[in-house]
Amino acid sequence: DFDARVARIASTIRVIPDFPKPEAFRETIDIFVERYKAKGITVVAGVEARGFIFGPTIALALGAKFVPLRKPKKLPGEVISEEYSLEYGTDKIKMHVGAVEPDDRAVVVDDLIATGGTLCAAVKLIERAGAEVVECACVIELSELKGRDKLGNKPVFVLVKAD
Ligand code: PRP
Repeated sequence: DFDARVARIASTIRVIPDFPKPEAFRETIDIFVERYKAKGITVVAGVEARGFIFGPTIALALGAKFVPLRKPKKLPGEVISEEYSLEYGTDKIKMHVGAVEPDDRAVVVDDLIATGGTLCAAVKLIERAGAEVVECACVIELSELKGRDKLGNKPVFVLVKAD
């Protein structure tokens, strides 16, 4: 019956209480907000999907706009697009035309930098709109992949380095 089926479904779902840990989330947000609050940031851009976890909360605290940089076929309006490499093949991220304006000062936020391809494409989108990317901010950096090198002299601020 219905209850038995739901119970079977429920038994396969692993419940991890407080994930992500609320205190870790708050401290992560606080560190980013403290770093950018006096830097005249007007845009926090987050990369789909996990940049959406951190970006809006940081934007709200800074009094900045949150701009979503999205995977293909998600944004309904006119977009600009940047391609980047994955381990196998390529992908694209897109930004609405007009989401960022030339006098904006942006921070790009994501959960993780690996090869740096995603952040590099994100920076290009914002710079193509004429705005300045002050810095990229990530929670985790996989240092061995040297993604930072792909960003050239664009600063990348990370909280945790891992191999
Ligand atoms: C992961 C991660 C970053 C990106 C980093 O996203 O969240 O956005 O990879 O990799 P890179 O530095 O080598 O470009 P993923 O592509 O898995 O997409 P998702 O967040 O939608 O799962």
